[in-house]
Amino acid sequence: MIEADIERVFFSADEIAARVRELGAQITADYDGKNPLFVGVLKGSFVFMADLMRAVGTYCDIDFMAVSSYGSGTTTTGAVKINKDLSYDVEGRNIILIEDILDSGVTLSYLKKYIEARKPASVSICTLLDKPARRRADITPDYVGFQCPDAFIVGYGLDYAERYRNLPYIGVLRPEIYA
Ligand code: IMP
Ligand code: MG
Repeated sequence: MIEADIERVFFSADEIAARVRELGAQITADYDGKNPLFVGVLKGSFVFMADLMRAVGTYCDIDFMAVSSYGSGTTTTGAVKINKDLSYDVEGRNIILIEDILDSGVTLSYLKKYIEARKPASVSICTLLDKPARRRADITPDYVGFQCPDAFIVGYGLDYAERYRNLPYIGVLRPEIYA
């Protein structure tokens, strides 16, 4: 069972649920009447986005982009490749980019510029986790679920080599798993 691979839980399912409700309420207040378009960055954001949008009480719609920057390791290569582009025209829309974790910032700063070039009314960033220790790009999130320790974490959508996305909480793996 995958539970046995977890050394320590950082954020429990209950803590995450409570924080997601707060973020949803904040976004509802900020975006009421603005019909925001949530753009989820696949694959990591899909669990967070599914919970977040159900905590939002105003009209909204969703799209996804898929990018790769990581391979199967734990450090970024710096290169961002678009594997799935937007399926909506974002011109004039209020965009909220949804990420699982903001780490080096390379992915989101690239995506933010990419979307800004398509003339949206606004672009903001909502990330479940912020790991500022390793920031390389000049980017500040507008909505943050939790500040995250400088460790490689998994669960609630976040993977290590595509595994552990199905854990309902966020934690760190036993060191021998990463070896
Ligand atoms: P950035 O471009 O370095 O900010 O990378 C962001 C992406 O790297 C995230 O969407 C995650 O997919 C991945 N990532 C960064 N840190 C972690 C981590 O601790 N666990 C799992 N994935 C991570
Ligand atoms: Mg990812």
